[in-house]
Amino acid sequence: MPFVVAVDGPAGSGKSSVSKEVARRLDFAFLDTGAAYRALAWHVEASGVDTADAASVVSCLDSFDCRIGTDPSGYAVHVGDVDVTDAIRDPQISAVVSAVARVPEVRRHLIELFRSIMAATDAPGIIVEGRDITTVVAPDAPVRILLTASEAVRMGRRSAELAGSSAEAVGEQLRKRDAADSKVVDFMTAADGVTTVDSTELDFDQTVDAVIGVIRAAQPAL
Ligand code: DC
Repeated sequence: MPFVVAVDGPAGSGKSSVSKEVARRLDFAFLDTGAAYRALAWHVEASGVDTADAASVVSCLDSFDCRIGTDPSGYAVHVGDVDVTDAIRDPQISAVVSAVARVPEVRRHLIELFRSIMAATDAPGIIVEGRDITTVVAPDAPVRILLTASEAVRMGRRSAELAGSSAEAVGEQLRKRDAADSKVVDFMTAADGVTTVDSTELDFDQTVDAVIGVIRAAQPAL
C-alpha cells in the first residue's frame, strides 16, 4: 500500500483542487472519490433509471464500469467507453448525486473500488479525498486531514467556479447537498486523530502549503 493521505471536507472547501496540487508537488497519485459517486449518478441517469429509487440504483451497480484516473495532471473519468470527466460536473448531476451516495450498497461497492485503486497505485503515495476517507475508507492512513472553510467562503468559491450561476442559487444547492450528505457521514467535525486545516483565511497556495506542512510533519522525508 502506498503512503495514504486522507482528505475530507464539505462541498466548496477546495479539497479537490488543493489535493490535486499537493499530489503534483509530491509526485503522488490523486483519487477524487466524489467523482465515482458522480459517475454512478451519471450512469444511473444514462440507464434511464430513477436516481431516487434505491433498489433501481443498486441494480445499476453490476453494469457500472468506472475508471477514474489517478494522475493529478491528466485526470479523467470514464464510464465504459464514455469520457464523463466534464459531464459529471453538470448541476443536474450535483442535484441527484446525494440520493445515489446515501444507498448503503453503493457505498460498500465504491469503498471496495477505492481500496483497490489505492492498493494498485505505483506512485510513492496517494491523496484520497472525499467525505468519509478519514473515517471509513482509510481510517488507518498515516495522514488524515479535514479541510474546512466558512460557508460564505465556500459558496463564494463555488459560484466563481460555476460562472453564470447566481450566488444565491449556488449557495442554496450547496447547503442542500451538504445537509443531505451530512446525514450519511459526518464530514464537518474532525474525528479523533484528524488534523483540521481551515482555509477560510487562506488563499489557494497557502492552503496547499498548509496541507503539505501537515504531511511533512508526519513524514519529514517527503
Ligand atoms: O466531492 P463532490 O462534491 O464531487 O462529491 C459528490 C457527492 O458524492 C457528494 O454530494 C457526496 C458524495 N460523496 C460521498 O458520499 N462520499 C465520498 N467519499 C465522496 C463523495
